[in-house]
Amino acid sequence: MNRPPMRLFGLLALSALLSLIVGCEAWSHAPTPIPTKNLGLNGQSLYESQCAVCHGMNGEGYKAELATQLSNPNFLAGASDRYLFEATAIGRLPSKMGPWSAKYAGNLTDAQITAIARYMRHWQTLPALDIDKEKVAGAAEQGARLYAANCAVCHGDKGQGHAGDVPANTGISLNTPGFLQVASDGFIRYTIAKGRLPTQMESWEGKLTPQEINDLTSYIRSWDK
Ligand code: HEC
Ligand code: HEC
Repeated sequence: MNRPPMRLFGLLALSALLSLIVGCEAWSHAPTPIPTKNLGLNGQSLYESQCAVCHGMNGEGYKAELATQLSNPNFLAGASDRYLFEATAIGRLPSKMGPWSAKYAGNLTDAQITAIARYMRHWQTLPALDIDKEKVAGAAEQGARLYAANCAVCHGDKGQGHAGDVPANTGISLNTPGFLQVASDGFIRYTIAKGRLPTQMESWEGKLTPQEINDLTSYIRSWDK
């Protein structure tokens, strides 16, 4: 009389056990990554899921070694929309900042990168400048001397950057094709002059003359191949 229900119970128990085993099997594998194209076009959620791990939830930077402060006032004032887009799209190999554009084997579409760039703008506190077209003609040989004396301690003797071996003297690379291709003369000059306080990149305009800042800009430019 109670046989059929018992058998049913047995079957149910077996299938529960099986699904448990199958479930465990699935858990033992890494979760399948969500294809980024399915993440949509919300700049904030894209930023938070793809970038915050290194640059911080609020763009405060340095969650990973050398991952700059993207919410920095002087950075956002000097960086054009083009800069934000291209710096993200092309990346900074060989640093940890790889290319993000699908064009360079990254996993974001151009529309997604544009959405993230727009999101980064909401941190901006200083008026945007229009400096991308400024050409700087300095004396690169003078710049080399000034660079060795003032900048190499953090950015490396050839602009290769320091990977934090001296934690107090840490600077990102300046000689990567990703940086030189994207940064205009005007952007480099402005960054040296104003710095990126409160990071370790101080403002040099009180310590160096405008001509010396031009010389440094031309020297950094001379790494462009
Ligand atoms: C694995 C860590 C990592 C991730 C993830 C990452 N970045 Fe970066 N990013 C870096 C590092 C490190 C640098 C500096 C590299 C250098 O120039 O030496 C950098 C540099 C940048 C720069 C140039 C900043 C400047 O000062 O000129 C931008 C813009 C940028 N990242 C945007 C992004 C965006 C947007 C994302 C997400 C789509 C992202 N990054 C994800 C590590 C990362
Ligand atoms: C004490 C270390 C230190 C010194 C010295 C220093 N820098 Fe920097 N520099 C940094 C750091 C750190 C950053 C990145 C700050 C950020 O945006 O988070 C930076 C950023 C920059 C950038 C922007 C790069 C980019 O990818 O956007 C330029 C250009 C630059 N420095 C040039 C110079 C020059 C030229 C000198 C010498 C006059 C110099 N720096 C001296 C630490 C330093």
